Amino acid sequence: MTQTIGFIGSGMIGGALARLAVAAGLNVVMSNSRGPETLADLVAELGEHARAATPEEAAKAGDVVVATVPLGVYAKLPADALAGRTVIDTMNYYPGRDGRIAELDGGDITSSELLQRHLTGSRVVKTLHNMDWIRLYSRARPAGAPDRSALPVAGDDPAAKAEMVRLLDVLGYDAVDIGTLADSWRCEPGTPVYVQPYQGPRPAQITQQDWHQPEWQRWFREAPGEPVPADRVKQLIAQAVRGHVGGHSG
Ligand SMILES: NC(=O)c1ccc[n+]([C@@H]2O[C@H](COP(=O)([O-])OP(=O)(O)OC[C@H]3O[C@@H](n4cnc5c(N)ncnc54)[C@H](OP(=O)(O)O)[C@@H]3O)[C@@H](O)[C@H]2O)c1
Repeated sequence: MTQTIGFIGSGMIGGALARLAVAAGLNVVMSNSRGPETLADLVAELGEHARAATPEEAAKAGDVVVATVPLGVYAKLPADALAGRTVIDTMNYYPGRDGRIAELDGGDITSSELLQRHLTGSRVVKTLHNMDWIRLYSRARPAGAPDRSALPVAGDDPAAKAEMVRLLDVLGYDAVDIGTLADSWRCEPGTPVYVQPYQGPRPAQITQQDWHQPEWQRWFREAPGEPVPADRVKQLIAQAVRGHVGGHSG
């Protein structure tokens, strides 16, 4: 059973997941690109179960490691230090942020397959990537809660996927096994299960294009979100249509 989670990336998603992890009694080792000293405030807030390290150290310290950096820098993830580890891939392709990645634009492989190719010695599992960071934290619920949500899980290694299902349960989510990394296009940006169902309906007067407006930002900060149970996740995954690649946002 996972005792320590290493984090490569300690931003919005890394921070939210680390908060859930320490609340569940797990240890976390946080890292970023600028060095452990820049994570002092976050680690102090997380408490005695947290420490800061370099990406290589976080990779080696974790029973599992969360890779949660902008996809555009995926090739900088330390493949040697991550060898032998299960790696949770929360990353999504946003060309406006990540730059164009020709292999993804061609639609032949998923972003998680791209990561798995880089991390040849690791077991990549795609999950924890299709909720926004605020709802990811606020909608976690104990096992059995009636308003608990489920998340898709994809991976090529059945044992690593099973390990992830157990970890999601500890962090506050049910899981739906949607297949292999090749199948993970079904939960990439722009698909029906991506982000929006967990946010709940957006007020009619607020559109995605309004993201820079205070009204949008207030809604994003404060929306309570909605539970998305496993049956609904299965329906949404089944509705996915392959074609569009990559997301766009503010
Ligand atoms: N935000 C969301 O709601 C959300 C939801 C689902 C999935 N995601 C995906 O999850 C990933 C992380 O998103 P985020 O919103 O948490 O991003 P973020 O807030 O911008 O944080 C990114 C983190 O990655 C670190 N980082 C960047 N380059 C690095 C490198 N070469 N080595 C080690 N660490 C590096 C950054 O460290 P420095 O600050 O030191 O550079 C920072 O801690 C992205 O792929 C995103 O698409 C985001």
